[in-house]
Amino acid sequence: MCGIVGYIGHREAYPIIIEGLKRLEYRGYDSAGIALFDGTDLKVSKTKGKVLDLENRVASEISTNAKLGIGHTRWATHGVPNDINAHPHYSNSGNLVIIHNGIIENYDSLKKELIARGYTFKSDTDTEVLINLIEDVKLKENVKLGKAVQIALNQVIGAYSIAVFDKNKPDEIVIARLGSPLAVGIGEDEFFIASDASPFIEYTKNAVYLEDEEMAIIRINKGIKIRKIKDDTLVDLYVQELQMNLEQIEKGGYEHFMLKEIHEQPNAIRDTYRGRLLVKEGIIRMAGVDDNMEKFLNANRIVIVACGTSWHAGLVAEYIFEDLARIPVEVEYASEFRYRNPVITSNDVVIAISQSGETADTLAAIKLAKANGAFVFGVCNVVGSSIARETNAGAYTHAGPEIGVASTKAFTTQITVLTLIALKLAKAKGSISNSDYRYHLQELELIPEKVAKALQSDEHIKEVADIYKDARNCLYLGRGYNFPVALEGALKLKEISYIHAEGYPAAEMKHGPIALIDEQMPVIVVATKKGHYEKVVSNIQEIKSRKGKIIGIVTEGDVHVQELADHIIEVPETLEPLSPLLTTIPLQLLSYHIAVMLGKNVDQPRNLAKSVTVE
Ligand code: G6P
Repeated sequence: MCGIVGYIGHREAYPIIIEGLKRLEYRGYDSAGIALFDGTDLKVSKTKGKVLDLENRVASEISTNAKLGIGHTRWATHGVPNDINAHPHYSNSGNLVIIHNGIIENYDSLKKELIARGYTFKSDTDTEVLINLIEDVKLKENVKLGKAVQIALNQVIGAYSIAVFDKNKPDEIVIARLGSPLAVGIGEDEFFIASDASPFIEYTKNAVYLEDEEMAIIRINKGIKIRKIKDDTLVDLYVQELQMNLEQIEKGGYEHFMLKEIHEQPNAIRDTYRGRLLVKEGIIRMAGVDDNMEKFLNANRIVIVACGTSWHAGLVAEYIFEDLARIPVEVEYASEFRYRNPVITSNDVVIAISQSGETADTLAAIKLAKANGAFVFGVCNVVGSSIARETNAGAYTHAGPEIGVASTKAFTTQITVLTLIALKLAKAKGSISNSDYRYHLQELELIPEKVAKALQSDEHIKEVADIYKDARNCLYLGRGYNFPVALEGALKLKEISYIHAEGYPAAEMKHGPIALIDEQMPVIVVATKKGHYEKVVSNIQEIKSRKGKIIGIVTEGDVHVQELADHIIEVPETLEPLSPLLTTIPLQLLSYHIAVMLGKNVDQPRNLAKSVTVE
């Protein structure tokens, strides 16, 4: 996820773009850049860091006459955040300039072809490949910029929203979208381009939103023409009048970032497996694992270190690695691991999981593991973060920035990455049959739409939240793969509503927590069809006979738990190892609604921090 802004018209472009970028920083903030063209001089400035760093750096050197410009705030996906990898990027001739939000999956093969044709590259980005591909097409086919963009995009696999201009045509910007949002603000002889409408809301309320697989040629005095990228058909212009205020736009119309991020999960999971999960070919492509396959296969065991929600993702991974890949796994709190003199050798593979990539305890655990000779693999969201740099290899989750302090999409995308790794190792070891392997791949590809279906229970979950919002305590139960989900559900509730909650393996309840159960106690039980279903149903009966209030998270169409439970919330059916990706959704929504009803600060709960860089 990145933020893009563009302007073409009669005003000074620089202030519009720089202010617009500040408003889009919630979409990414590891580096920023701007390109301005006044008809003669092209000025490009870019820097690692925030938009403010860009502003400080370029304020003095920027041409203020430019009426055409594009700017970018980056959330790195290819290439670490640094000045060179920051956008805009330009083509070898220096004529074409681009900003890009998204991932070009086949950038490697395209790059090789372009290198063979004499092109050179300064950055590690997929974006620089795209702009040179556009240039190559433009020269080879002798076509205008719009046509060149269209032909090039038809060769690209991946997701993008882009804005491109040509120094030789200063009255035109070409934009295109597939998978990443793009809005155009339409003023009087002027156009604003942005990832959402926040950068131009004070200039115009008229906006056009590009749909996937559409591109537009925007020409001053001539207006905007939208076409389908694939077949060039002209699309009718649908101009909307914006009703939202600035804050609502930044949160995508949701009341809180946490809710937005919960709803982003179908796309976030898709972005995580994009380019990695090749179902038809039966392949999982992950360079960090492929390059180190021997290390994984020869390991005595895998040790997972993490904190908080990431630790819960680690627990899910323990089940899936042992179940499918038959590799012994231990999951450790990084803070305990680093101080307890653990036995770690060069025969161990250590996986560190961290959304931020900056958690101090996880970082210290990695250093300890490395000092003892272990091979350390990172699963991080933030590209170029300290943990990503400190580990020997890794795989990013590509969830996009997570702003809400309570982690949601980071959790499900971490599980997705770990599932891909487990399946890959299982295949390499032969511990899974070919048909089972294929089945898992197919089911994983279906998870985003099943998550979207699970999200449709939102209204019903809100009603349940209303009934239990005044509870003093809550118990969350699950077995097998869904025991970590119970822990994560309890953590979510504690974090944002300040209600005491505990997660427990359902069968352990009788060794203690059962004493707490009375008619005041809500018990949330994950009871999906495939996971020790009968055993969990027996646990539910134990709760019922002690008058506890039961909220069952069940598979669609379940009738058995429905008879016993006070409420049920359904999730679509899937394979047991993938079920945490679905069962966790209602638990996120339940805690969210309870916290909102209690008037708590959902996005910034008291005493917590998004990234804990102290011990
Ligand atoms: C903090 C955050 C949690 C997060 C934990 C680990 O406590 O509030 O949401 O799970 O740190 O963070 P990491 O960035 O390492 O995943």
